[in-house]
Amino acid sequence: MSGAALLQVDGLTRRFGGLVAVDGVSFAVGEGEILGLLGPNGSGKTTVLNLISGALRHDAGQVALAGEAIHGLPPHRVARRGIARTFQLVRPLGSLTCRENVAAALAFGRRRVFGTGAAAEIEALLDRVGLGGRGDALPEALTYIDQKRLELARALALGPRLLLLDEWLAGLNPTELRQGIELVAALRAQGMAILMVEHVMDAIRSLCDRCVVMNAGRVIAQGTVEAALADPEVVRAYLGDDDA
Ligand SMILES: Nc1ncnc2c1ncn2[C@@H]1O[C@H](COP(=O)(O)OP(=O)(O)OP(=O)(O)O)[C@@H](O)[C@H]1O
Ligand SMILES: [Mg+2]
Repeated sequence: MSGAALLQVDGLTRRFGGLVAVDGVSFAVGEGEILGLLGPNGSGKTTVLNLISGALRHDAGQVALAGEAIHGLPPHRVARRGIARTFQLVRPLGSLTCRENVAAALAFGRRRVFGTGAAAEIEALLDRVGLGGRGDALPEALTYIDQKRLELARALALGPRLLLLDEWLAGLNPTELRQGIELVAALRAQGMAILMVEHVMDAIRSLCDRCVVMNAGRVIAQGTVEAALADPEVVRAYLGDDDA
């Protein structure tokens, strides 16, 4: 990792009954870095994001943003500290238009932008994610990628220092995937740090500075994408022999 750690996760642990879904996980995300969080289904990736964002309580360990502890804070307070997320299953506010969805996120985010002052910013956010001109549309009228774009606009409206993406690039066709990769790269170019749960190898290879690979709740490898993906345990647990 280059530069100071923006996010520091140490010994993070979460149990569900007898299952240790996240088991002593430690890693850091640097300022302006894209860190990939990889691993097979059920390895604990989404649970890590839920613990960082405050959606779930942790059982042990620490999470710090820019040196300040944030573990144990409720989601809205974590958001105010500067962490925004997208969900693996998109969840826009269905009865609100795209514009209203972004407006709600702006009003309740750490910057509390609302009223007439918000209008230009809403349009800029919609533009930025590729939804320019779609402000009046209801989420249900959007294609899948456009729903994902809306989800991203809502996260960006919070003014995050760190963005958590949970398989944001999953399920896109090749053209959409290329657009999605360009969009994420543009966010990083603007200085945003991103923790990205992803299975799409093209996206991981082209976007991530480093990656952390989990299996059964534990970190089994971390480092450059090339080195982590070549790790024998990663090949065995995640990639399978065909990808080796
Ligand atoms: N709220 C919950 N209650 C009970 N078990 C849960 C809960 N959330 C997750 N789990 C379990 O914890 C483990 C890790 O799940 P998690 O969703 O974090 O995996 P993941 O790596 O994101 O998987 P995927 O790639 O399929 O999204 C799984 O065994 C899952 O069934
Ligand atoms: Mg998941």
